[in-house]
Amino acid sequence: MLAGGTGSRLHPLTRITNKHLLPIYDRPMITYGIEALVKAGITELMLVTGGIHAGEFFRLLGNGHDYGVDRLLYAYQENPGGIAEALGLAQRFAGSDKLVVMLADNVFEHSLRPAVAAFEAQRRGARILLSRMEDAEHLRHLGVAQLDGGNRLQRIIEKPEEPPSSLVVTGVYFYDSTVWAVLPELKPSGRGELEITDVNNHYIDEATMEYDVIEGFWGDAGESIDAYYAVNDFVRAHGANKD
Ligand code: G1P
Repeated sequence: MLAGGTGSRLHPLTRITNKHLLPIYDRPMITYGIEALVKAGITELMLVTGGIHAGEFFRLLGNGHDYGVDRLLYAYQENPGGIAEALGLAQRFAGSDKLVVMLADNVFEHSLRPAVAAFEAQRRGARILLSRMEDAEHLRHLGVAQLDGGNRLQRIIEKPEEPPSSLVVTGVYFYDSTVWAVLPELKPSGRGELEITDVNNHYIDEATMEYDVIEGFWGDAGESIDAYYAVNDFVRAHGANKD
């Protein structure tokens, strides 16, 4: 579970707390992601965070037992160097096991259980979850999938000027242990971060990436202040992580 970054898109709210601790309806944002994973049967979790508010996660989550987590470990990211750098801190936790990576600002209407089951059955490689989103402005703020005529994934374009489709890449990623050899090969992007999209494009090039298109609402509450409120409004009206 990745909950770092400076939350600059939600300044000044994120000057006083970590983005993932801001409320979504009646509870802190990160609890939705934890609930999504626990409901999907994942009960061993490493939380990677950083910055000056990191200690607040202990106050909220403690040892994780109240949230259904059996083993909760914490890692501290010294500098906000991107999602793929944060992921590197989980290597010793995951070892040779398959893993699920979730960005703690992502909120899903429906259960992740079918996607987890699909990845359990997948022999190797990686898996991503795509969500349909028609609004071009949103698409330009996210990773967008480029598909060929046969619906094969060709590439993910990060924050495209010209979105190649209306399928956005959500912040849930599945990897086998080969991911630990991919991370050291990454180069920082234009925004000075190690990008998860570069990791995913590696698996697309290798033809070991699979995907699901999810049904129902998905939102990245950290995308912008408007997206933050859109997620709040949705969750308040309809709930989240439903079977
Ligand atoms: C990240 C990914 C992007 C993805 C998004 C989902 O964006 O880089 O591909 O669509 O998460 O939440 P970021 O939040 O780092 O801008």
